[in-house]
Amino acid sequence: MGKTALITGINGQDGSYLAEFLINKGYTVWGILKRNSVAENQTFRIDHLRNTPQLQLEYADLLDMASLVRVLQKSKAEEIYNLAAQSHVRISFDQPIYTAQSTGIGTLNLLEAVRLICPEAKFYQASSSEMFGNNIDADGFQRENTPMNPVSPYGCAKVFAYNICRNYRNSYNLFISNGILFNHESPRRGSNFVTNKVAKEAARIKLGLSDKLVLGNTQATRDWGHAKDYVEAMWMMLQHDKADDFVCATGVSHSVQYLVDYCFKIVDLDPAQYVSSAARYMRPEELHDLKGDSSKMRSTLNWQPAYTFESMMEEMVHYWLDFYTK
Ligand code: NAP
Ligand code: GDD
Repeated sequence: MGKTALITGINGQDGSYLAEFLINKGYTVWGILKRNSVAENQTFRIDHLRNTPQLQLEYADLLDMASLVRVLQKSKAEEIYNLAAQSHVRISFDQPIYTAQSTGIGTLNLLEAVRLICPEAKFYQASSSEMFGNNIDADGFQRENTPMNPVSPYGCAKVFAYNICRNYRNSYNLFISNGILFNHESPRRGSNFVTNKVAKEAARIKLGLSDKLVLGNTQATRDWGHAKDYVEAMWMMLQHDKADDFVCATGVSHSVQYLVDYCFKIVDLDPAQYVSSAARYMRPEELHDLKGDSSKMRSTLNWQPAYTFESMMEEMVHYWLDFYTK
C-alpha cells in the first residue's frame, strides 16, 4: 500500500505540484484548505486532481490548532509538508502581524499538534532564502551556514519557523527537515510575484490587451528555479535517512531587468517602450541579491533541476500567450 501525506497550502503553487508528484508516486494525499468565500477561486490549481480518489481535502487553518488536530487524527499522515504561509514579501510589510501569525506561529501550531498526535511522522518545513536577508558569503553565494539576517516581516517569520523546527527536532527527536528554497516559479505562480507578472504582461502587450508594465526595483537579482524541480527536492528530503536542513537553488542568478529583457525578447518587443516603475512596488527594505549553493543537496540527495531559467520563462510566457488566444 502507498504512503499517506498531508500538505498544508495544497492549493498554492508548490502544493499543487507536490500533490501531483505524490499521487503519481502512489501516495494518498490529504490537503487542507483555508475557507474562502468563493470556493472555485481556491481550488483552480488542483481542480484537475479533484476526481482522483487518492486526494482528500479538508477545511483547516494553521491559526486554528483544533482543526489541525482533527486533520492529523483523521489522515494518519506519515509525511507532513508544511507549505502554508502568507508568502508575499511586499504584502508582509502591509500585514506584518498576520504574516507573523500564519507563517511563524502557524508553523508552531502544526508542530505542537504533530508532537502530541503523530510524533513518528516526517515533517518538511518550507523555509526560504529570504531568511538570509543581505548576508552573502565571500564567494557570492548563500548556503546552509550563511548567517540569517532577514529584511522583511515575512523573512523574520520564516526565521522563527526555521528555528522552532530545529528546536523541536533536537528537543523531541522528531524527523523535521528544513528546505531552504530559493525562488521558484511556474505558470501557476501568483501573478503578483515578479516572474509571472512580467511573463503575463509581456504576453498581454504582445496581443494588444495591455500597453504597460509597472514594476518596482529592477536591479535586484534572484536565483530562479522551477517549482516542479523544487517539489521533488522536498520529497527527497523526507526520504533521506536523517532529518537535516538543505539549501535548494540553481546557483545561477539574474536581475529583474534581465528577466524583463528576456520575456520581451520572447515576444519580440522592445521593453523600453512599455516598462516603467512606481513607488508602490518598492519595499521599505529590499533584499538585493540571492544566489544559492545547493552542493549539499546535490551531493547528499542527488538532486538536479531539469529546467533552466530560460526554459522556465519560455514555458511561462507561452502559457499566457495560449491562455489569451484560446
Ligand atoms: P503560495 O502559492 O502563496 O501558497 C501558499 C498556500 O498557503 C496557499 O495554499 C494558501 O491558501 C495557504 N495558506 C495561507 N495562509 C494559510 C493559513 N493560515 N492556513 C492554511 N493555509 C494557508 O506559496 P508557494 O509559492 O506555493 O510557496 C509554498 C511555501 O514555500 C510557502 O510557505 C512559501 O513561503 C515557501 N517558499 C516559497 C518559495 C517560492 O519561491 N515559491 C521559496 C521559498 C519558500 P490560500 O491560497 O487559500 O490563501
Ligand atoms: N512582486 C514584485 N512585483 N516584485 C518586484 C516588482 C513587482 O512589480 N518589481 C520589482 N520586483 C522585485 C522585488 O523587489 C524583489 O527584489 C524581486 O523582484 C522578486 O520579488 P518577488 O517575485 O515578489 O519574490 P521575492 O523574492 O520577494 O519572494 C519570493 O521568494 C522568496 C524566496 O527567496 C516569495 O516566493 C517568497 O515566498 C519566497 O520565500
